[in-house]
Amino acid sequence: MNQLELIRALPKAELHVHIEGTFEPELMFAIAQRNNIEIPYKSVAEVKQAYNFQNLQSFLDIYYAGAKVLIHEQDFYDLTWAYLEKCHEDHVVHTEIFFDPQTHTDRGIAFKTVLDGILRACQDAKEKLSISSHLIMCFLRHLSEEEAFKTLEQALPYKDQIIGIGLDSSEVGNPPAKFERVFAKAREAGFLIVAHAGEEGPAEYVWQALDLLKVNRIDHGVSSEQDPVLMQRLAKERMPLTVCPLSNLKLCVVDDMQQHNIKRLLEQGLCVTVNSDDPSYFGGYMNDNFVAIYNALNLSADDLKKLAINSFEASFIDEKEKKKWIDQINAL
Ligand code: ADE
Ligand code: ZN
Repeated sequence: MNQLELIRALPKAELHVHIEGTFEPELMFAIAQRNNIEIPYKSVAEVKQAYNFQNLQSFLDIYYAGAKVLIHEQDFYDLTWAYLEKCHEDHVVHTEIFFDPQTHTDRGIAFKTVLDGILRACQDAKEKLSISSHLIMCFLRHLSEEEAFKTLEQALPYKDQIIGIGLDSSEVGNPPAKFERVFAKAREAGFLIVAHAGEEGPAEYVWQALDLLKVNRIDHGVSSEQDPVLMQRLAKERMPLTVCPLSNLKLCVVDDMQQHNIKRLLEQGLCVTVNSDDPSYFGGYMNDNFVAIYNALNLSADDLKKLAINSFEASFIDEKEKKKWIDQINAL
C-alpha cells in the first residue's frame, strides 16, 4: 500500500470541525431558497471566489454571514448529515463536532432547534454509517463573559448530549483569561474543556488555556513552538493539539504548507492530530488535509499512522474503543 492508499485506509477521528464551517455553497443556496433568504452571491462560483482570506477575521465575517440562512431543525440536520457523509468517504469513524449556538440564538433561533437537528443527523450516522460522534458547544470569544454564562445555562439541560465546552472566534484581544470564571462553572457541571489557542494568538494564550481554563485539549496551538518551555510541558503531559493544516494555509498562519510545523511538533513528542476546521471554506476535508501535509512535508507511513493513532488517543471516547481503533491502525 502506498502512502495515499494508507491515508484513505486509516481509520481516523476528527476532533476539530465547526459544523457551520462545513456548509457547502450548493447546500447554502438550496437552504437559502427554501427559507426565502437573500444571499449576496449569484452563483456557487461567486461564493467560492469570495473565499479568499487574509486572516481569521476576514474568514469569520463570511462564515457568520453564511450561517444566517440556517433557520429550521431540518436545516441543521441537512448541514450535519452532509458533513457526516464526507466523514464516511474519508473513513473518519468518530467525530467531535463544534457548534456555535450564539451565532443562531442571537438571530432568534431556539437553542433546541439547533441541537435537535445536529443530534438527529448524528444518530442517523451512527445507525446508517457506523460513525460515532460527540458534540462540543463553543462560546464566541468576541462576545462577553455574561453572554457565555447565559449560553452555558441553556446547555445545562442537555448535559448528556454535549460532552464538552470550547472557545472560538476572534482570538487576538480575546484571551482565555476573559472566560476563566465561566469555564470553571462548565468544569463543575462536568463538561470536558477545549479552547482555540495559539492559532493567530501568542504562546501566552496557550498557557492561559492550560492554567486558567484547565483544558483537556488545545485547538490549533501551532504558536506553542515559539516557547520551548511550553513545548516541553505539552510533550510531557501529552496535551493534544488539534492542528488544522489547510485552515492555517488559507488564513495565512503559514505562507506555504512546506513551512507548516506539524511534523516538527510530532517529532518533539507532542500529541498532534490532523483536522479540517472549516472544510467547505478551506478547501478540503480530513483526507485532503492529510494529503496536503504528506505532499508538502514528505511524511512517512509511520508518521501518518502516528497522526491517526493520536486522533483516537486525544478523543473523548472510552479506553476500550480507543484500543480497538489503535489496534486496527497498527495492523495496517
Ligand atoms: N470558528 C470557526 N473556525 C474558526 C477558527 N479557525 N478559529 C477561530 N474560530 C473559528
Ligand atoms: Zn477552529
